Amino acid sequence: MKSLTLGLNFFGGHDTSIFAIFEDDVYGLSQERITRIKHDSIFPIDALHEMLRYKKIEPETIQELHVGIATLAFQKRIFNEYAYEMTTALRKMLQGSDEELYIKDFVQRKEALQSKGKVAQLMTFVKSKEGRSYLKMQFSGKKLPLDAIIEKHLRKIFPNAKIDMTFYEHHLTHAYSTYYASGFKETLVFTFDGEGDSCFSKLYEVKNGVFTELGASQNRYVENMKMYDFADSGYASVGNIYSIFTYLLGYTPNADEGKVEALAAFGNHQNRLYEDLMAAVQIDEKRMAMELDTDMLNVIFDPENLETLFEELSKEDISAALQRALEEIVLSYLSVVKAKYPYKRIALAGGVTANVIMNMKIFEELFEEMFIIPAMGDDGISQGAAIMKYLQLHPEQKESFSFSMMPYYGSVFTKEQIRGVLEKSGLSYRFLGEEAYLKAAEMIVEGKIGALFHGRCEFGPRALGNRSIIADVRNKEIQKLINKEIKKRPLFQPFCPSMLAEERERLFEKAYDNKHMTIAFKLKKEFKEQIPGAVHVDLTARVQFVSPEDNPNYYAMILRVKELTGFGVIINTSFNKHGRTMVLTPQHALRDFVDTNLDFMVMEGYLVEREGIAK
Ligand SMILES: [Fe+2]
Repeated sequence: MKSLTLGLNFFGGHDTSIFAIFEDDVYGLSQERITRIKHDSIFPIDALHEMLRYKKIEPETIQELHVGIATLAFQKRIFNEYAYEMTTALRKMLQGSDEELYIKDFVQRKEALQSKGKVAQLMTFVKSKEGRSYLKMQFSGKKLPLDAIIEKHLRKIFPNAKIDMTFYEHHLTHAYSTYYASGFKETLVFTFDGEGDSCFSKLYEVKNGVFTELGASQNRYVENMKMYDFADSGYASVGNIYSIFTYLLGYTPNADEGKVEALAAFGNHQNRLYEDLMAAVQIDEKRMAMELDTDMLNVIFDPENLETLFEELSKEDISAALQRALEEIVLSYLSVVKAKYPYKRIALAGGVTANVIMNMKIFEELFEEMFIIPAMGDDGISQGAAIMKYLQLHPEQKESFSFSMMPYYGSVFTKEQIRGVLEKSGLSYRFLGEEAYLKAAEMIVEGKIGALFHGRCEFGPRALGNRSIIADVRNKEIQKLINKEIKKRPLFQPFCPSMLAEERERLFEKAYDNKHMTIAFKLKKEFKEQIPGAVHVDLTARVQFVSPEDNPNYYAMILRVKELTGFGVIINTSFNKHGRTMVLTPQHALRDFVDTNLDFMVMEGYLVEREGIAK
């Protein structure tokens, strides 16, 4: 191979990732899938190596490397030239010799190290090889702008390549990612996140691959928000207000927003916080923007005000106020948009569009057709940057270029590779081929909890059947069981279903064929008792509708469940133990299988059962 087109989210503060476009294929992978540190922010060097391994590319043969990088503001941002090497050295030093490091261990051990005195810290570093090399790099390293650091990394991997690198505007990369996967030709595109290149939302009209920006909402500095550095250090946005409250409610910001969204269904939104939030955002019709009132936000985030707010209101009511305000702000903004640009369809991207209830309201009230890119967060901007770079080189494909809608863009492992790993594992396994999926259906109907590991890994936060934990949706106790044994989620947070596409009209009020679990729909009341395992208290379910062409084995399995139970529905949650990221490799899968209480696992036709492992 001579030429390679690559998109990178190299340093967005979280969710670094790579995306490559080949003549007949694409490849996307987040760095977190390799390190298993959730939302990992280190340079995605390891993801690049995994792509080269999987695609069997000899990096020395690459002569032209075309790189698109998301976010203009990062180009000249200054980092230590050994930022990646220092982080990996620190991680190795903190990790015991026989264990992998996951996010909780890493954070705890890093905090423990930081709490030591300077001399004790130094002694800890000096004692290990990794610690010594960390210190050496810290003292000898220069500070360099990001573009220079990226070039150094790429040069090491691709020694013979001419590197052609372009940085692209953050929201435009979000917009490209969703437009080219949507299948829409003419549409509105709305991007909505915490912050990217000084904006938290943008609106585009796209006609046959030509993007016209119609509006942009800007982050505004709010003195009382500056202490929350995870939320852009005081540069407020609708999205990072939500993240700050996620933190104040005791959850992890930029990760657990879905928990707040789930908790909101138990609360009453009519309270002071809701009123204040609604007063803090106005819609600027001329500029097609959401405009923040910084004075009002200073009042809301005044520490004394927050203290009384948390005394007055329950967690549920705070969550409800926050969720409802988000929905209403977006609905009033998009109503104004629609009045001026009367499109029936819209494509969404950006971290805030992970909010499935907000998306449901947008669909129910404003648009007939909707698409939300599966990698809606900043992991997905590498996809957008790759497309932008590719189209810069091939402008004639602007109209015709398209993507497979199912984001199975990661690595696959062969039967032989899996057999090799199983042989060493000491677990009991047998090869059943396609029968294994039917057997899996029977086992979950018997009340067992299983996992699927097959095909290419999903790109984006949701498991869509290739790296999934599966269970029977009819069983009320199943949610508690999965939580207790595997996921440790709060009990109020529902699991989500995968179902046959043909069940949609029978089971749901108003829904479209969403294949990616990026929106919730309301279940018809009469089915709540029959499939309670995947429905929230407000009757909503974040569902994946499965057609045979999306994933034939997964479809066949759910079809068998329908034959056995009358409902073509199962619980689908990502395959990983609590605190880890979704599994990528067979080794990850075996490790999480052994460390949890899963009853069985289907790996490319091999059925692995929990025999000989103590429960
Ligand atoms: Fe973003």
